[in-house]
Amino acid sequence: MEFSLKVNQQNFTVEVDPGTPLLWVLRDELQLMGTKYGCGIGQCGACTVHIDGEAQRSCQTTIEIAEGQDITTIEGLSDHGDHPVQEAWKEIDVPQCGYCQGGQMMTASAFLAKNPSPDAKEIRMAMQGNICRCASYNRIEKAVAVAAE
Ligand code: FES
Repeated sequence: MEFSLKVNQQNFTVEVDPGTPLLWVLRDELQLMGTKYGCGIGQCGACTVHIDGEAQRSCQTTIEIAEGQDITTIEGLSDHGDHPVQEAWKEIDVPQCGYCQGGQMMTASAFLAKNPSPDAKEIRMAMQGNICRCASYNRIEKAVAVAAE
């Protein structure tokens, strides 16, 4: 079936099965490789994108649900990699292997858009659903706090 998508302010038409996860449409059809596959079952957050401004797991969002919504991936978070969250990530030197970090930044940026002045506990709660196998949690939390400044 054909589906129309708006991703990073661009319109696309893709032909896929209706139940196809948005994650695979982004990666396989649109070649947006910044959105990662970690678990495929909604547990890790590596596949997080924004759908109408909300952080959502693209492995759990079918193309049918995503159609017609405003989707942003890590590639579209800013024009030049200079979103405050991206700047803070660089300043704190957050990543180790880096695999989960796109999803981490998408969760952080959606969170800060809603809560621009969070305290440490709110940051920890907001980020707790995004798993980092390198355990960069302290740096992630610090970077979210820096981005909020
Ligand atoms: Fe989607 Fe892990 S790949 S939550």
